[in-house]
Amino acid sequence: MDTYQTRRGEIQAYFDRTAAKTWERLTSDAPVSGIRATVRAGRDAMRATLLSWLPDDMSGQRLLDAGCGTGALAVEAAKRGADVVAVDLSPNLVDVARERMPHNLPGTITWHAGDMLDENFGRFDHVVAMDSVIHYEAGDKVGALARLAERTDGQVLFTFAPKTPLLAAMHTVGKLFPRGDRSPAIVPISENKLRRLIAERMPDFAAGNTKRIASGFYTSQAFQITRAEPRT
Ligand SMILES: C[S@@+](CC[C@H](N)C(=O)[O-])C[C@H]1O[C@@H](n2cnc3c(N)ncnc32)[C@H](O)[C@@H]1O
Repeated sequence: MDTYQTRRGEIQAYFDRTAAKTWERLTSDAPVSGIRATVRAGRDAMRATLLSWLPDDMSGQRLLDAGCGTGALAVEAAKRGADVVAVDLSPNLVDVARERMPHNLPGTITWHAGDMLDENFGRFDHVVAMDSVIHYEAGDKVGALARLAERTDGQVLFTFAPKTPLLAAMHTVGKLFPRGDRSPAIVPISENKLRRLIAERMPDFAAGNTKRIASGFYTSQAFQITRAEPRT
């Protein structure tokens, strides 16, 4: 099995079983402990950043929420009128998302348990992958982004874990915890390497905005790539 499929299986097991309840709570309004509260605040700031790079009126536009989790970003996009396809490996998280979906949204959301790279979902104006490629090796990360970009006529917004000395130390400490309690490792990548790989693998796309969010135990960097050349 290749590294993408192996890692995908670990991620699915983690989010669908090991951490499903924790994740459901983290993404709700229920009170959480101090460390988790910093993560929730960081993730809220990240979602707001990504949404600020999307149009205010998305009527008639298709958006893929790639690795939608419990669906917060999909709902915000549908509030702006987008037709959203929201996909996650975890059927349990997709069920939570479906139950949380408000009625009478101006746009639409179709929920799927499956792989975000499935080509049957069609083409999109916008693809957003918030914290959903962070667990893959550099080659698989950029490979996944390239496959998403192929199906995107506008922009791909995603996040990566930036490789910095402080974060490298935190990841080393993380490895001291017992295996069973850990999530699949986050694989940091330096911004320079990411930019180089994007230029190589996605020549039709140009890098746009980027913003790092650091809040307690949450550090992630938002990145925008926009189709520069029309598709031939
Ligand atoms: C850290 S969570 C983030 C969820 C959501 N984007 C958010 O920000 O609330 C990462 C999610 O990506 C999903 N994921 C990872 N790889 C995926 C893939 N290949 N296809 C679909 N979902 C994937 C996981 O199942 C998990 O729910």
